[in-house]
Amino acid sequence: MIRRYTFGKPFPTEAVVKELPYETDALPFFSIEDNRLSLPLENDIPVYGLGEQVRGINKRGWLYVSNATDDPNHLEHTHSLYGAHNFLLIGASHPFGVFIDYPGTLTFDIGYTRRDQMYIQPSQWDLDIYIIESPDDRLVSIVRLFRQLIGKSYIPPKWAFGYGQSRWGYQNEADIRKVAKGHREAGIPLDAIYMDIDYMVRYEDFTVSEEKFPDLPTLVQDMKSQGIHLVPIIDAGVKIEEGYSVYEEGVQNNYFCKEEDGTDFVGAVWPGRAHFPDMLNPKARRWFGLKYKYLLDMGIDGFWNDMNEPAIFYSEKRLQKVLDQVADLKGQNLDLNKNNEMLGLVNTLANNPEDYRSFYHEPGNGWEKVRHDKVHNLYGFNMTRAAGEAFDELEPDKRILMFSRSSYIGMHRYGGIWQGDNLSWWSHLLLNIKMMPSLNMCGFLYTGADLGGFGADTTEDLLLRWLQFGIFTPLMRNHSAMGTREQEAYQFDNMEALKNTIKLRYCLLPYLYSEYMKAALTDDMMFRPLAFDYPQDPFASKVEDQLLLGDGLMLCPVYQQNASGRYVYLPEDMLLITASGPDDIRFREMSAGHHYIEASLTEVVFFLRRGHLLPLAPAAESVKDLDPSHLTLIGYLNGPCTYTLYDDDGISKDFDLDKHAEPITVSPDGSVKYSGSRRLTFDAKIFKALPSL
Ligand code: GLC
Repeated sequence: MIRRYTFGKPFPTEAVVKELPYETDALPFFSIEDNRLSLPLENDIPVYGLGEQVRGINKRGWLYVSNATDDPNHLEHTHSLYGAHNFLLIGASHPFGVFIDYPGTLTFDIGYTRRDQMYIQPSQWDLDIYIIESPDDRLVSIVRLFRQLIGKSYIPPKWAFGYGQSRWGYQNEADIRKVAKGHREAGIPLDAIYMDIDYMVRYEDFTVSEEKFPDLPTLVQDMKSQGIHLVPIIDAGVKIEEGYSVYEEGVQNNYFCKEEDGTDFVGAVWPGRAHFPDMLNPKARRWFGLKYKYLLDMGIDGFWNDMNEPAIFYSEKRLQKVLDQVADLKGQNLDLNKNNEMLGLVNTLANNPEDYRSFYHEPGNGWEKVRHDKVHNLYGFNMTRAAGEAFDELEPDKRILMFSRSSYIGMHRYGGIWQGDNLSWWSHLLLNIKMMPSLNMCGFLYTGADLGGFGADTTEDLLLRWLQFGIFTPLMRNHSAMGTREQEAYQFDNMEALKNTIKLRYCLLPYLYSEYMKAALTDDMMFRPLAFDYPQDPFASKVEDQLLLGDGLMLCPVYQQNASGRYVYLPEDMLLITASGPDDIRFREMSAGHHYIEASLTEVVFFLRRGHLLPLAPAAESVKDLDPSHLTLIGYLNGPCTYTLYDDDGISKDFDLDKHAEPITVSPDGSVKYSGSRRLTFDAKIFKALPSL
């Protein structure tokens, strides 16, 4: 059951796809005091949700602010990251979900001011609140109802489940070819190389530097013949430059965000002075979206949208003010206060709230002029929607890879997200783990973090451990920042171990793709906290560093430096899988309870749940070379067991469950029953589980 409560005049965010009637009775569960929603938090009840945010899976104990921010410091005391995902799941004995559909700044004080109290405060009371309950009181059911409300998750092409290599620093064709060669010569699988901002002319969107890439279409084809897709970045800001067609068209047609006086707002990003397309204006959105055609026509079939909070290094006006004030300090004795004043001036240049209050959108549809800060969190959503709608128009039958940095709930229908500028820190590997289920709740299934870490220098062991988790995340991309240590897998002494780990990803693909597609098509979560499947288990709800993945797996990543194993909690008997590569996979039955398991640096450890099957394919160089016709079925059974395998052409939008999902049944004696349409052969490796109690 979903109920909608409306306050004031909400901006139509288009986060939800179902028009629900307004409730007239009082809002349940919450009281409204001092302009904020208030909810007592009993005892130990967990609070889940908020998608891309810092801290734990259980969000209790911190103050989170939905205010999309370009902040590369993902610290424990950070309040806002790049997305705004205002969905919470209160895990009380009668659990319920709440979605606050509000695109301005929204504060969630979840036991921060008072440990036993939650306060939610919007900066303005123009919003819709959806309360979601399920008759079976199951957390997964509440999430499913919410997901039905916000619409189906984006589905990328199948090749986008392969391994991708990225670095802010690849400059030209030679660099791209070097990366491709480095992987292919070393036998490291690879499906994508990402092109960061340096491919453009002076950081101008929808341009390609001829000097650096004299013949991009040919390069794209050469790479494709090796199973590698090139994925360029697109930034939100459009460089101000006479003669640059995107800029000129935008100005002529009033497609850019404007200041109060009607002039185009000027903020700086990579190219220096830039204008920001009014992504909320349908005409401007369509115009911007159709620009992707320039690269699609060169054979490109994937993009990442960046800087779309939007990030603003400085506004023209603020910069002038600050430079004048700093100039006034010239010749003065900068004591503590003066020095702080000077630093303060410079530090407030970027992403300044006053700048976000100084420009406007014209969304039409009865909304003449809306000040940006009131709808700030919708910018990245609508940039990605611009692309998604254009892809539907330009390539109606083809899936195009798209993921974004900034997002709002609703954007999950048009693309995935990556988790932004993390650092090569062990704690950021853990953050990556914890974010996965929270994002899935909010519809973001295609997601992953920069493996190895974006900022700061990585180390071989961190990269290896991170890849050991990354082989399970739908977006599996190694990305790093300019100036940091190079972190392509072939750069390290222990290249074999890195390679073998990446190969395992390809073995897992029949399972991962099946689980992704089933989750996307049935509004399910691919990654779940243990408590979601074992609600009666008092320990399961406390576990924050193990995740359920799809139908039958439980992940227990190693995320600590120098660890050679870890403690795990098993809510039931499970089969431990230890793999150091496709040719070295070992199994061990383990009973329910707490255990310490060994995992040397080169070993991935995870579990197969009792009564489940795991299909594995032989490793491949790229998704296009994957041969899923011979599967090894790992089973941990005490009776016949069925796995629903999903497969399709991976590129068209014909993704029908009835058509593409087929059951495979395995008996404890190892016999396999399959009467589906594909030509499949099987090996079954069965471990006998004790009957459940
Ligand atoms: C931003 C992105 C990062 C990218 C860089 C340069 O920091 O988050 O991924 O590499 O910009 O484009």
